[in-house]
Parts: sequence; structure tokens; C-alpha cells
Amino acid sequence: MKHYNVGVIGYGWAATAHIAAINATRQGHVTAIYSSRPLDAAELSARHGSPIKVYQDLDAMLAAPDLHVVDITSYPSQHREQAVAAANAKKHIILEKPMANSPEEVQAILAAAEANGVRGCVCFECRFSNQFQVTKAVIDEGLLGRLHYGEVDYFHGIGPWYGQYRWNTNKREGGSALLTAGCHALDALLMLMGSDVESVTSLSTKSASDVFQPYEYDTSSVTILRFKNGAVGKTAAIVDCLQPYYFHTHLVGSSGSLLDNKFHSTKLKADKAHWSELSMKMLDSGDVSDHPYQAQFQAFFDALDAGRDMPLTSFPEVAKTFAVIFAADTSAAQGGVPVAVK
Ligand SMILES: NC(=O)c1ccc[n+]([C@@H]2O[C@H](COP(=O)([O-])OP(=O)(O)OC[C@H]3O[C@@H](n4cnc5c(N)ncnc54)[C@H](O)[C@@H]3O)[C@@H](O)[C@H]2O)c1
Repeated sequence: MKHYNVGVIGYGWAATAHIAAINATRQGHVTAIYSSRPLDAAELSARHGSPIKVYQDLDAMLAAPDLHVVDITSYPSQHREQAVAAANAKKHIILEKPMANSPEEVQAILAAAEANGVRGCVCFECRFSNQFQVTKAVIDEGLLGRLHYGEVDYFHGIGPWYGQYRWNTNKREGGSALLTAGCHALDALLMLMGSDVESVTSLSTKSASDVFQPYEYDTSSVTILRFKNGAVGKTAAIVDCLQPYYFHTHLVGSSGSLLDNKFHSTKLKADKAHWSELSMKMLDSGDVSDHPYQAQFQAFFDALDAGRDMPLTSFPEVAKTFAVIFAADTSAAQGGVPVAVK
């Protein structure tokens, strides 16, 4: 087993959850933080329980030979430049979502990682959540039969009460309802349906509430997907709702259905008039301290040890999700014309 020193880029909300999660893995240790703000190394080392060097110059941190992994938790518009620089410095990369806000930027990150022989982990940590791991196991056990319909929707009001609102309202950083938050739901749908996407159709709008008027883009979208295996699906990405956080899942197959934590399977011969219940930890909060980063980062370091791409959230795997998102946003911008996914 190897040991990975990690340098974190950005020291905001996501970074604090990442540091605890990385330090809780068997191999990872945060030893450096780069921020454009001056940070106090002694104070950070005391807070996180081990020596941390602080940098205000990214190139200086990337030049450190004893740094093995870079963890990018900065604004989305900075992801491409920083990920490419990290790859060119031969560092493996943990990258917060979105990978980036345009197809060209995502391609640049993929190309740089490939050219430098470094591996990536994108923070679609919901794939590692108990809810979606159990849901996937129900599918893999054949309890739902062959899925022909699936919907995973994201309802999370991101208003002034939420830290990210500060930058999220901005088109350049937030991008779209799908890019900024609904990407988690669309990504979960792709994992559960288990087929590549052929084409998408998407429509978008925004709330009339004054709370959400600062947003420079449509904060509600609904995307219909046609999968290559013939199945169809839907993802709503709703950032401008006034309700509790809700990650909605409904899957329909030839042997049963699953609705959030409930299911019916003809294979179990239970009463179809009533749902059976699954006991699992639900994704019911946007709070990063609640997200399964530790399991995801553990899987990343284990994959680095084994010299291969990580399961579920490697750069190539997650780039497929972003190709669907970019196609959906292109469709929405054109009033819902179907767009093929390349
Ligand atoms: N995977 C998830 O579920 C999840 C959850 C939260 C955030 N994120 C992602 O993580 C990234 C960062 O989001 P965040 O919520 O940590 O945002 P944040 O606003 O806390 O931090 C964003 C950036 O701003 C900097 N920053 C924070 N406070 C600052 C200040 N007072 N002055 C100057 N700079 C400051 C941070 O260092 C960081 O570079 C984004 O890409 C976001 O989409 C993902």
C-alpha cells in the first residue's frame, strides 16, 4: 500500500469536507493547501490535526516533488486551467463537480490527464452513497427485471440561505440547473439504467419568486433521455424550489418497480398493492459533511495503488455524464429539439 500526499486547491466549504474524508482514508493525507487568500499554516495544521503547508502560488505547490495528488475544490470556471496544470505536473487529480462548464474544457482535462498518465476522480460521490449502492444492488440482483423507464430528479432550493448562492447565480460559474446541481441526479440515473444515452430533449424555465431572480440562467429544467438499449428516462433539475431537499428516484422494470426506498418485485411474490420497504441511508441533504466522500476517495486511492482507473467516477466515466448534460443544455437552449449525444 502506498501513501499519497494531497494538495488541496481552494479552501471553501467543499474543501473542509474533503480534507476530513481524505485524512480518514488508509493512504491519503492532506499536506498542502493553495488558496488565493493568505491562510495561517499553524492554524490549519491545528484544525486538521497534521502539518499543512500553505501556498499562495499554485505553481509552487505543483512543483513540490513530495505531492502526489491534487484536489480541486475551486470555482467551476477555474477547474480546467487548474486540472490541466496539475496533470502537466504529473499529479493525480480529485476534481469537484462540475468537471467544467463546457465540452471543450472537459476534453482539455481528459487530454491532459491522458497525455501525462495521471488518473482522475470526479466528485459524483452520490454513486458511493448507501442509497444508490443499495438501489444498484436491487437492480443487479434482477429484482426489477429489465429496466425500461427510470427517473431520478433533484429538488434543492439554492437561495441566499445557501453558501454557494454567492457565486452560483452567475452563469459563468453556475452554468445551468443541470451543471450546478442536477448533475448528481442525471449521473445517478445513468449509473442505474446501465446504458449509454442516444439522445436527449430538454426544456427549462425559472421561478417567479423574487428570491431566485438574481440567477442569470434558467434554474429549473427537465430532460428526457433515450438510452441506446431502448429504455427511456427523465431527470428534473430544480434549483429554485421552496421545499426540503429531495432526491427522487423511480425505476420501472419487467419484474417490478422501485420508488425511493420502496420497491415491489414479482420475484418475491409480495403483495403488489403495497410497497415493500428498503432500509438504507437516504440522500436527504445537500450538506457536504453528509456526503460519502470518504468511500469515494478510498476507492480512488485503492485504484491508484492498483494502477488503474477508479470504479464509478473516473474521468472517462464521468465525462460521459457531462456529454449528456451538455447535449441537454444545448437542447434546452434550442427550445427542446432532440440532440444526439456524442
Ligand atoms: N459534490 C458535491 O456535492 C459538492 C458540494 C458542494 C460544492 N461542490 C463543488 O465544490 C466547488 C467549490 O464549492 P464550495 O461549496 O466549496 O464553494 P465555496 O464558495 O465555499 O468555495 C469556492 C471557492 O471560493 C473560495 N473562497 C471561499 N470563501 C472565500 C472567501 N471568503 N474569499 C475568497 N475566496 C473564497 C474557496 O477557496 C474556493 O476556491 C464547486 O465546484 C462546487 O460545485 C460540490
